[in-house]
Formats: sequence, structure tokens, C-alpha cells
Amino acid sequence: MSGLRVLVTGAAGLVGAEVAARLADSGHTVTALVHNRPELVRNDGTVVRTVPTGQSGPGLVSCVAGDVTKPMLGLSAERYEELATGLDRVVHTAATTDFGRRWETYESLNVDGTRNVVRLAAEHTPVPLVHVSTAYVCGERTGRVLESELDAGQRFGTGYEHSKFLAEQEVRASGLPVAVVRPSMIVGTQESGLIRDFKNMYVVLKLFTQGRVRSVPGFYDALLDLVPVDYVAALICEVVDRFDEARGRTFHAVGAAPHTLLDVSNALAEYPMFHVPHYMSPSAFSVDALPPDERVYYRRIIAMYESFFRRRARFDDANAAGFASWRPAATGVDYLRTLLDHCVRVGYLGRSEPGIGDVLRLVGSAG
Ligand SMILES: NC(=O)c1ccc[n+]([C@@H]2O[C@H](COP(=O)([O-])OP(=O)(O)OC[C@H]3O[C@@H](n4cnc5c(N)ncnc54)[C@H](OP(=O)(O)O)[C@@H]3O)[C@@H](O)[C@H]2O)c1
Repeated sequence: MSGLRVLVTGAAGLVGAEVAARLADSGHTVTALVHNRPELVRNDGTVVRTVPTGQSGPGLVSCVAGDVTKPMLGLSAERYEELATGLDRVVHTAATTDFGRRWETYESLNVDGTRNVVRLAAEHTPVPLVHVSTAYVCGERTGRVLESELDAGQRFGTGYEHSKFLAEQEVRASGLPVAVVRPSMIVGTQESGLIRDFKNMYVVLKLFTQGRVRSVPGFYDALLDLVPVDYVAALICEVVDRFDEARGRTFHAVGAAPHTLLDVSNALAEYPMFHVPHYMSPSAFSVDALPPDERVYYRRIIAMYESFFRRRARFDDANAAGFASWRPAATGVDYLRTLLDHCVRVGYLGRSEPGIGDVLRLVGSAG
């Protein structure tokens, strides 16, 4: 279906920009809700051309600056009303994906922000909402996790995933026509490993490969689910287009198969310039036993991701598999090589080593 009027929140983000651009390319009229960053940059670095709101139309993207944490998204009453009456779909991607934020930030942005977007969609005739959640709303559950499941009494490893869980509950309780897409860890494209933002696990990878963090509490058979950014964006766009089929369903946007930490270690070991971390049983691990530099990295960064080195969730994606036109190919360790090769090619990994302060600043954890 083309020619829909779609609001994309978080439209300058990694997922949002790609989704907004793809929706416009397929003939939809896109309103991009932007926040601090005004520009939409696609995953390949291309800047999305935008038009003033008055000139919006099929195939075009116009921007509105707003704040999902505020009532009426921080818009004027007139602008809010105009937006609320002129939509066929809302795609909600705005969130903080950072780990280690204060709970108040997660609550205000990820939970209250979602509630405010739900209110907009429910303001007049209910507008179908495509909510972008995370597969990790399953928390620290082990084993097979179904798309139909949400509250299984799970424990959460991070405030981020807890807030996304609460946001999903808001969406489900809203009474709106909704579809939920739950990506796992979003990484580079299937073909080339290209990624616009080296965040989250990429930061950890940098510390590992530079040998700044050598010992990590975790298990070699823990599972990491990595999903290509192009697949996530394509699936969200398909859900927008074929909402009647997607309505009421949840889709795990996950990789073809999860990688064990042993797979990741083996892939890293193929690169002579990389250090490879050593995983220790969490019961035997002691932060105090780490060398002083490593202790700093552990406390400031690794501790936020630690639960991911213990998890063993397998995301069932039967809904997504039966719905999506394409899915990531089961390329196993080849895909890890593709991702690592890209990081080396663009100089993200394997460069000469800056000092500890430089690295902490780079990952936004200094101070
Ligand atoms: N990246 C992943 O690995 C991953 C995995 C699973 C699920 N997800 C989910 O996918 C969605 C998109 O993630 P992403 O990686 O694209 O995140 P991202 O790159 O950090 O983008 C998030 C966007 O939200 C906007 N935003 C932040 N605060 C806002 C506010 N108060 N009002 C309005 N907009 C605000 C940001 O704008 P400014 O930068 O201008 O503030 C940014 O454009 C999120 O819902 C996330 O939970 C992501």
C-alpha cells in the first residue's frame, strides 16, 4: 500500500531515519518527528532530503521538532491538532537506547514518551500504531521466547529493557490498533556490515579488541542475537504497509540464528591485531582482582552490559518469518566476519590506541 500519511518518531535515529526514508521512497507522505538532531541521516550516510511542512506530499519527508516526554509532544495546540487529524499510521521509534541512564530518564522518555505518542494516535479516529520495542523485553529469561509472550515474571538485566517492557504494556493496553516490532541487537547490514552508529555492543567490542578489557564474567555458551539494520527497517516498513495483516501481532526482528560468545571469540581470534577477552564464571570473577585500568572500564562500561554475557535466550520469530518478504540469511560466523571487516575497513577497530580518557569520552561515559 502506498500513499499513507505516516508519522515517524525518533526519525533522526538509526532506525527512524532509515524507516522514514524507505517509507518516502515507497510513496508515503512522511512526517518526521525530530528532537535535538534536526537532520535525518540514513545508515549509509546519505542525508534525507526534507521539505517544509506546507509542501509535504507523497514521496516526501517533512520534519516537525517535538519532544515525546512532553504533553502534546511539546507542540503548539494548533500543530498538535493538525498532526493528530492527518495520519494513517504512527511508527514509534523514539527512545533512549543507552544503558546506564538513571531510571527517571527511562521512565520519562521510554515509558511516558510512549504514553504521549499513544495519546496522539488515540486523539481522534484511532490511528494504527507500529511500536518499536526490543526483543530484550524478555529480560534475563532463558530458552525459547515467543513473540506472543511479554510478562513472564522475568527479571530485567537493565533499566532500558524494563522501561521498554512497560512501554509495550502501555501500547497493548491502549485499545489502539497496534503491531509491535521487537529487534534484538541492531548491527550492520547483512551484505556489507555497514552501520552508521557504533553504539552499545560496538563499544564493548572496541574495549575487547584493544585489550583494554581482558576478563569478563560470562559464559562461552551465552547467546548474542545480532540483527542487520536493513532487515529491521524493511520489516517495520512492511508492517506499516500491510498493517491489516500485522494488526495485533508482535514480530521478533532477530538474526537468522544467535551467536555464542565462543563464536564471537573465534571470529575475533581470526584478526591478528585483536585481543580476545577471556570469559570467567561469574562466581569466580572479582572486579577488585582486575588491573586498575581495566577496573575503570569494567565499572564504567562493561558492568552495564554484563548480563548479556550470561544470557541464553532464543527468540522464536515464527510471526516475522511468516510475514517478512526477506529475512537475514543464516550465515553464522561469516556474518560476524562481515561486521568485523567493516569495523576494520572504516577504522573503528584496529586503530592505534588512544588513552583511557579518550576511550571513555568516545563511548560517552567520561565524568
Ligand atoms: N539500536 C538497537 O540495537 C536497538 C535494538 C532493539 C530495539 N531498539 C529500539 O529501536 C528504536 C530505535 O532505536 P535507535 O537505535 O534508532 O535509537 P537512536 O539512534 O538512539 O534514535 C533514537 C531517537 O529518539 C529521539 N529522541 C530522544 N529523545 C527524544 C524526545 N524526548 N522526544 C523525541 N524524540 C526523542 C532521538 O533524537 P535526538 O538524538 O535528537 O535526541 C533519536 O533520533 C528504539 O525504540 C529502541 O528501543 C534499538
